[in-house]
Amino acid sequence: MRAGIEAMGLYTPRHVLDLRTLAASRGIAAEKFTEGLGQSWMAVPSPDEDVVTMAANAALTALEGVDRGKIDTLIFATESGIDQSKAAAIYVHSLLGLPSRCRTFEVKQACCSSTAALQMALSHVLLRPESKALIVASDIARYGIGTPGEPTQGAGAIAMVVSANPRVMEIHPEAGFYTEDVMDFWRPNYLDEALVDGKYSIRVYLKALEESWRDFHEQTKLDFRDFHRFCYHMPFSKMAAKAHLHLARVTGNGETPAAALDAQIRDAQEYNRQVGNCYTASLYIGLLSLLETSAEDLSGRRVGFFSYGSGCMGSFFSGTVQAGYRSVLPIEAHRRMFAERRVIDLPVYEQFYSHRLPEDGTDYATPRHPTGAFRLSGLSGHKRQYERVDARPGAEWSDLPAHAATPTLATV
Ligand code: CAA
Repeated sequence: MRAGIEAMGLYTPRHVLDLRTLAASRGIAAEKFTEGLGQSWMAVPSPDEDVVTMAANAALTALEGVDRGKIDTLIFATESGIDQSKAAAIYVHSLLGLPSRCRTFEVKQACCSSTAALQMALSHVLLRPESKALIVASDIARYGIGTPGEPTQGAGAIAMVVSANPRVMEIHPEAGFYTEDVMDFWRPNYLDEALVDGKYSIRVYLKALEESWRDFHEQTKLDFRDFHRFCYHMPFSKMAAKAHLHLARVTGNGETPAAALDAQIRDAQEYNRQVGNCYTASLYIGLLSLLETSAEDLSGRRVGFFSYGSGCMGSFFSGTVQAGYRSVLPIEAHRRMFAERRVIDLPVYEQFYSHRLPEDGTDYATPRHPTGAFRLSGLSGHKRQYERVDARPGAEWSDLPAHAATPTLATV
């Protein structure tokens, strides 16, 4: 029996910061961000967005045309949790009106809990082929203002319907794993920003890639050349290039021309350049980017995935793109979402960044900004309040400059 991704949806905030603006204000050469890190834009959530609203918005897109009555599992992967006890998944379940006969929970292991969720969901639908699972991965990457991590922030969510009818991609059950106790990136409960040993985190990422690949290869005997394309966890898009070159070298393919290596990862990098790091969602935003921007018909092609979560855990696995995948993907909705983004200046970015919800239980209404169909309307007695709104651009948009660099979505 086959299982995998039946449908996908992406949400990223309507506000973006040009990394050249950030570089200028921090006295750094813009090329360090645009070429050195490979990032162009950074999505910035407004005060009325959080991981719940982003996930619900992504899921709304993914569920278009899907029988919601069949969903009996909802798993929410995040490292930007909003509550120590109640799962963010419950809010999403409620906002989407999913069946009450549903197992609904949240998972954590830095950026790779989304992969654990996907693998759990695959096992579930293989046991119960009539059911469907909804996986949402949603994160806001935050580092300190003026720190080296600042240009690698971002925000977004991905939603995937997993079922025994994998119209987008079959995910193969074999997976390689690696775990090691390291402190490369973490966020204690009392901090809003992540702490990171940046250069060390890159070294650990590459080691986890190598070890996960080794485990995967021993199980499957598949070789580097058996893959047509690769998707890597992308804290910044250049990380995928570093990872791919490393994998080529350790598998004895280091002599592959740079252009050929680049062609294997380029399409998967496009959306990441536009939104920035989205932690748990990043790998799967890369997959969506590959499927939606590649000019080549990828039907029947095998894709290799490397999922990395600091702390750390890695997983290497693979999937096969299904015939007709493009007709299933909500490409037009994503194109519209990217086209509607508006560019903010540094003061607005810093104002959004420093916005905090009250912590003393007072009632609070969040200021209204352009969002998707769901927004955080405020707090009442320590309880988050969400509402559904008209997601069409309002008059507020007209004052902000349009986002000039909307990704090109290929037609094949
Ligand atoms: N023109 C072109 N390139 C330039 C340049 C210029 N003027 N100036 C510098 N560069 C290049 C550098 O050569 C470097 O490229 P290489 O790595 O290919 O040599 C690149 O720009 C970055 O420069 P630095 O290494 O000097 O940058 P930095 O030390 O200030 O910060 C960073 C880089 C460590 C990635 C930092 O952004 C960071 O800490 N980010 C957060 C942590 C992170 O993303 N880690 C990744 C692995 S962990 C993970 O994946 C989990 C996760 O999601 C966080």
